[in-house]
Amino acid sequence: MTDRTTTVTTDDGREAKLPTFGGTHGPEVVDVRTLQKETGLFTYDPGYASTSSCKSKITFIDGNEGVLLYRGYPIEQLAESSNYLEVCYLLMYGELPNDTQSEQFTSNIMQHTMVHENIRDFINGFRYDAHPMAMLVGTVGALSSFYHDSLDINNPEHREISAHRLIAKMPTIASYCYNHHRGMPFMYPDNDLSYVENFTRMMFAVPAEDFKPSPVAVKALELIMILHADHEQNASTSTVRLTGSSGANPFASIAAGIACLWGPAHGGANEAAINMLDNILHSGETIEQTIARAKDKNDPFRLMGFGHRVYKNFDPRAKLIQKMCHDLLADLGGDQPLFQLAMELEKATLADQYFIDRKLYPNVDFYSGIILRALGIPMNMFTVMFAMSRTVGWISHWMEMHTDPEFRIGRPQQVYIGAAKRDYPKKS
Ligand code: ACO
Repeated sequence: MTDRTTTVTTDDGREAKLPTFGGTHGPEVVDVRTLQKETGLFTYDPGYASTSSCKSKITFIDGNEGVLLYRGYPIEQLAESSNYLEVCYLLMYGELPNDTQSEQFTSNIMQHTMVHENIRDFINGFRYDAHPMAMLVGTVGALSSFYHDSLDINNPEHREISAHRLIAKMPTIASYCYNHHRGMPFMYPDNDLSYVENFTRMMFAVPAEDFKPSPVAVKALELIMILHADHEQNASTSTVRLTGSSGANPFASIAAGIACLWGPAHGGANEAAINMLDNILHSGETIEQTIARAKDKNDPFRLMGFGHRVYKNFDPRAKLIQKMCHDLLADLGGDQPLFQLAMELEKATLADQYFIDRKLYPNVDFYSGIILRALGIPMNMFTVMFAMSRTVGWISHWMEMHTDPEFRIGRPQQVYIGAAKRDYPKKS
């Protein structure tokens, strides 16, 4: 894989010849692993924006062109023709399943949808007003206390069954976190339904009545889940890898990913985007005033759902979700004023020099919140939905890491800027 070398020479003449290589797509990288040995220097890269932490075959993003590929397949084609469980198979195993593999995989996942009865009790132990993300992070971490039989991370069968359990149980746990919060009964899964239909039923059905999931709602959720299934080495996926790199079990590693996703700069952004749109609507602020606030460096306000560390072009997921927004709102008659405002804000920012210069475009979170709200999913469940969709991405990366011959415990360096070495004062 090594193509060329790059020579780094320090002022005092120390020299390192560093290998330079590329992947299938994307820019070349400099392999700095011998830099410290050759020159005594480390690299400094807060936020890791210039650092590749691993080689991966799962997902490719070209942020300048607005391209997102899962195992080489463009997200647009998967959104159009695939379904969530097929995408899960693709991400985990690298290829699309044939009919037999698809049937087998679906059956494996659906067989694991139930949770131990004690997990239901465990969730019931949370305070009635606990945030669903707080319940999710705790419950997923607690899963490792239920599956001692499959926690050997060096056993490929254990890794696989844990992956299946996580993908299968997330909708059940997510719906229980929601219904605990509402004081509603926990529904058992119905394995005759599709993965997404089953989730909608567990969220909204009650034992006293028949429930038929709306096909439009299921289609919209399926799209949202496909679009959020993976996004290469983002903060939460890197957290899962870093946690797993110490040998932590998969449930603990995914719980760490969920904790990271919770932050407003990551998975919490769609909730923040809806709050922002609501505030603008209710305050009567004009679009011009909102944009002026976002540009004002003395004002901490940022346009939520805009900008991305990697996409310096339209997020391809935002384009797909924007179209779904139109279709869904026409069908369900959702939050039209909010959607109108979102469209106007998008139009105004795309024409504004500040946003053009900084390549700030709407990201997927800008529209996903509107869809989720139109589906009746409350805002405090938005990040839970994201976590449920992303579980397959996290676990696929965790599995890939465990078969990577270059895998080591993750341990970044630092530049120490604290007090110089000094002596503890002598006591008189
Ligand atoms: N509104 C206004 N200005 C912005 C915004 C925004 N949403 N995002 C970035 N900028 C400006 C910054 O002020 C900065 O301006 P400057 O160069 O004049 O100082 C410039 O654009 C670059 O911004 P950074 O913060 O350096 O970009 P970074 O890559 O570190 O941050 C991030 C990316 C966190 C997504 C940022 O754009 C942001 O805070 N957006 C709002 C939150 C959001 O939507 N998060 C969702 C991310 S996608 C996801 O997790 C699925």
